[in-house]
Amino acid sequence: MDFFPFLLSLIFLILHLSGRRVVEAEVNLQKHHHDHKGIISKLFVFGDSYADTGNIKRGLANSWKHPYGITFPGKPAGRFSDGRVLTDHIAKYLKVKSPVPYSLRKLMPQHLKYGMNFAFGGTGVFDTLNPGPNMTTQINFFQQVIKDKVYTASDINNSVALASVAGNDYTRYTVTNGSVEGLPSFIESLINQTITNIIRIKGLGVKKVIVNNLQPIGCLPSMTTSTSFKQCNETSNNLLAFYHNILLTQAVTKLNQQTKHHSKPFLILNLYDSFMSVLNHPSTHNIRDELRPCCVGVSSKYFCGSVDENNVKKYLVCEKPKSAFFWDLVHPTEAGWHAVYNKLRIMNALQQIHD
Ligand SMILES: *[C@@H]1O[C@H](CO)[C@@H](O)[C@H](O)[C@H]1NC(C)=O
Ligand SMILES: *[C@@H]1O[C@H](CO)[C@@H](O)[C@H](O)[C@H]1NC(C)=O
Ligand SMILES: *[C@@H]1O[C@H](CO)[C@@H](O)[C@H](O)[C@H]1NC(C)=O
Ligand SMILES: *[C@@H]1O[C@H](CO)[C@@H](O)[C@H](O)[C@H]1NC(C)=O
Ligand SMILES: *[C@@H]1O[C@H](CO)[C@@H](O)[C@H](O)[C@H]1NC(C)=O
Repeated sequence: MDFFPFLLSLIFLILHLSGRRVVEAEVNLQKHHHDHKGIISKLFVFGDSYADTGNIKRGLANSWKHPYGITFPGKPAGRFSDGRVLTDHIAKYLKVKSPVPYSLRKLMPQHLKYGMNFAFGGTGVFDTLNPGPNMTTQINFFQQVIKDKVYTASDINNSVALASVAGNDYTRYTVTNGSVEGLPSFIESLINQTITNIIRIKGLGVKKVIVNNLQPIGCLPSMTTSTSFKQCNETSNNLLAFYHNILLTQAVTKLNQQTKHHSKPFLILNLYDSFMSVLNHPSTHNIRDELRPCCVGVSSKYFCGSVDENNVKKYLVCEKPKSAFFWDLVHPTEAGWHAVYNKLRIMNALQQIHD
């Protein structure tokens, strides 16, 4: 496939979708405030490091090393940030405690009542360059937990699920193949698998499944090192993230239209627009460094959390993690996630969880 027909079909898709979006927005406005809100008592989480709160094994990831976790809980605890991540914010919105990581469920039985987090850092919907269960396997874990009667059908019925897909599959694609020609069909197969996954999660009985769209990956520090963190890579944003998000929106819209109920069982969490909005107006959120990460390796050989063979630290941490949007090369700080969360609330994006 060459790029010209690809671009044409992209433009077609945009035109096609923009008409539909307007109609949807109007319907939403009319519907507002009519529905009575059900109480959501549990959150089940799937996906990668944007959502992992401690599943990944110690020793496999820097998230278990200093200075991860310095803001919250005050020491490394497996979160890929200085503090709270996406899962914690969605839990807070639902007024439940952050759900217990699947790997730690036996250590924290008193936390089972808030749901369970099956997300493992580094994973994808397909297998990636990192070890750890792909999303299909994570859903198998969920299915087994239900079979083991850890949760009743009515527990699950009063639950919401979050599926985080932040791009590890694309990292693997870039490293193992990388052909631009193959990218559109890879994106398509990734969306197909994501849709298969969220249908399966819904089929296990949860009320609603939230899936994020792809954040502006061209703005991740890993993509902006060559410009000293001055400028987003527009190619990655405009082609990869944009195409991914169009296909996802189209597929989720179609799924919701197929449902007989008037409330929509699937909801896209718009990380693209919320990240972009914060990055374009950082001072509104008291963020001083919008693209420069707070914690970096002292050279390209090292990363946030790296130490050498003598246990000497090989990274630098900024003075105020609160003023930085990004923590390391791919993950927001707690302040970054908080700003994104506030933006999502302002956009009324979370309201629909209760509709
Ligand atoms: C997920 O992992 C399982 C177990 O390793 C594997 O059998 C399966 O093919 C994977 N699924 C996808 C969609 O990559
Ligand atoms: C799930 O909740 C809905 C109302 O929100 C109710 O109509 C339905 O019967 C419940 N199903 C189960 C299995 O509890
Ligand atoms: C890489 O992309 C090319 C072009 O689409 C495709 O033919 C090939 O099968 C891909 N290889 C792998 C390993 O995915
Ligand atoms: C994705 O799914 C659609 C509809 O089921 C199918 O027509 C298409 O071939 C699939 N694409 C890929 C790349 O798997
Ligand atoms: C931006 O990303 C594209 C595709 O990932 C890459 O080919 C290009 O070199 C990057 N540009 C810069 C300035 O890093």
